[in-house]
Amino acid sequence: MNVVLCDDYQQMSTQAATVFAECLAANPAAVLGLATGSTPIGVYENLIARFKAGEISFAEATSFNLDEYIGLHRDHPQSYYYFMHQQLFNHVDLPSQRIFVPSGVESDYGAYCQWYEDRITEAGGIDLQILGIGSDGHIAFNEPGTALGSRTHITELDHQTIDDNARFFQSKAEVPRRAITMGVATIMDARKIILLATGEHKATAIRDAIAGPVSSECTASALQQHPDVTFYLDSAAASLLPAE
Ligand code: GLP
Repeated sequence: MNVVLCDDYQQMSTQAATVFAECLAANPAAVLGLATGSTPIGVYENLIARFKAGEISFAEATSFNLDEYIGLHRDHPQSYYYFMHQQLFNHVDLPSQRIFVPSGVESDYGAYCQWYEDRITEAGGIDLQILGIGSDGHIAFNEPGTALGSRTHITELDHQTIDDNARFFQSKAEVPRRAITMGVATIMDARKIILLATGEHKATAIRDAIAGPVSSECTASALQQHPDVTFYLDSAAASLLPAE
């Protein structure tokens, strides 16, 4: 498990985008695991700039997003499908048939979750997964208490997550209560993982993820058992880490 301390959000975003660029340079047909939330926006901006400068292409790549709110159609401005198109997909050459974002409006989720897992397997697995972290230590929408062996599933959002994400909606009442998410084990199958966090409000989650016990109470702590994971942190997010 590696920790990279970054000067600021900009530097963190540039470094993480470089990891994507290197992945695509090594394998233009790479399978990318993508995340939503405000944290990766700078990475996506940087990737768009590199694409427009002709430095990278997504033409042969495939992407899988981590999660989606249940009940939000893909054209809802707060859906993760919409977010990803606004923040990345509409600006780069990733073919639409190789963009996978879990659907929030299925009728048979038992079958759909397995279908999503099967698509990842069929694509050859995820080469590079980017993650943010919830203030309760969740990765994707794997809330505290989620089994570390979990695969793509439907989950109830925690009060903390509903509070945190209310800022994107008109009111807290509008925040969906359920989501579809890759499981912890789905994420752990990625060959390389980078997790980004900035700000004091992430410091406890980062401490628990890196220095706490591996426990479903902080699903990010599972990453301690991954062979290739790097945390990119600013000093505020890293402020509660024990001195080495
Ligand atoms: C949501 C997403 C997570 C994300 C988290 C943190 O809960 N499902 O994937 O990591 O928000 O978001 P932010 O980066 O805005 O702090």
